[in-house]
Amino acid sequence: MTKKLYISTYGCQMNVYDSARMADILSPLGYTLTDQPNNADMAILNTCHIREKASEKTFSELGRLRNMKQAKQKADKGDMIIAVAGCVAQAEGAEIMKRASYVDMVFGPQSYHKLPEMLAEAARGSGHILETNFPIEPKFDYLPDEAIDKNLSAFLTVQEGCDKFCAFCVVPYTRGAEFSRPTSDIVSEAKRMIAAGTREITLLGQNVNAYHGVGPNGQSASLARLIYELAELEGLERLRYTTSHPLEMTEDLCEAHRDVDILMPYLHLPVQAGSDKILEAMNRRHTGAQYRRIIEKLRSYRPDLALSGDFIVGFPGETDKDFEETLQLIRDVEYAQAYSFKYSPRPGTPAAALDGQMIPEDVKSERLSRLQALLNEQQLNFNKSFEGKEISVLLEREGKREGQLIGRSPYMQSVYLQSPPHRIGRIAKIIIEEGNANSLRGKLKPGSIADAA
Ligand code: 5AD
Ligand code: SF4
Repeated sequence: MTKKLYISTYGCQMNVYDSARMADILSPLGYTLTDQPNNADMAILNTCHIREKASEKTFSELGRLRNMKQAKQKADKGDMIIAVAGCVAQAEGAEIMKRASYVDMVFGPQSYHKLPEMLAEAARGSGHILETNFPIEPKFDYLPDEAIDKNLSAFLTVQEGCDKFCAFCVVPYTRGAEFSRPTSDIVSEAKRMIAAGTREITLLGQNVNAYHGVGPNGQSASLARLIYELAELEGLERLRYTTSHPLEMTEDLCEAHRDVDILMPYLHLPVQAGSDKILEAMNRRHTGAQYRRIIEKLRSYRPDLALSGDFIVGFPGETDKDFEETLQLIRDVEYAQAYSFKYSPRPGTPAAALDGQMIPEDVKSERLSRLQALLNEQQLNFNKSFEGKEISVLLEREGKREGQLIGRSPYMQSVYLQSPPHRIGRIAKIIIEEGNANSLRGKLKPGSIADAA
């Protein structure tokens, strides 16, 4: 009998990957995915704890699910198992159980491979299930082989957890210590993805460039080594990785940007702030000058490298002068794209204890809008610089408008064009006609792909 599974995913790409794996694990138990929560037999919220706003969404969505569960029971349509997964589950599991008694199970990011056991336990009526330990055995050893993402562009988790302990960040507490999968497991998974049609793989890790999995010779392999190995795979056309820490931008990884053709010229390398005082208070363990030097080196190896970053404004103790230094760093680096946030104190992190130095909300808002104005201007300039140029685009899906296809440039920009749908899956040369704030508009270069009849 088929049962309906609804999964709602918040937060980072790692959660997107985990949600897909949960669906894979539950599929042999008869669960098929639905995007309609109201009649689901099981609803999983895969949550994010990184900032307060993200965390709050868990409780508001849980309220909606409770109403649906009750309506379903009233209409005699059976039960809806409600599960909370992800980082809020890890950080606030007991609290969720207390506040929301209708929640059947709560499990953290490192325990979802135990879903079949948890479901069996729930069926035996053994009450609520809380599973937030960090198991000794890595979940990857228990995920089914079929666990493949069939998208043209797909994520592959190679590393998890973080040992960096930036003062503002919950990740080391919710995802746990750094763990890298062996290269052979990753290569096998990549092969299965390619066989299923994937053309572009993004290697995922909270601290992906700290990757140090067991390599082919039994010794520790770096991310660069893994990239060289994956680049050999027949049928793989594009590789990316995210998210990186500046301290781990090793020489071999910088060289990979010069030497590996399929490694795309785009790098997400968060710096968070530009002032050395704030970087130190954040426990980033690098200075603004060191970050600039890394960027310089990367650009000397790969001059067209597009950069993306993360920024936090209003970290405790941030003065106007500190903030100006962040703006200056942005001007010096010139980003193609970036994410920026107001500092949000997270329970249990060292920065949340810096009580006396909190920055007022209105100051944070004002700084954020100035910072975003600068980043938006850089992004628009970057996109405009492609007008009249030709770039290769992996055509991924149909757009909203009739006859439109959407794909990504090597630099991660969304590119849209008019083209028949049978070209989806191809990498085509596109002539860019217009660069906008968030996308590029272009047209297919005549003869750039030979169409089958
Ligand atoms: N407040 C605001 N932003 C944060 N980030 C992480 N923790 C916080 C926090 N407490 C941002 C960082 C990180 C990104 C994923 O989220 O910029 O790189
Ligand atoms: Fe969080 Fe810092 Fe680790 Fe990134 S490097 S996950 S910001 S602790």
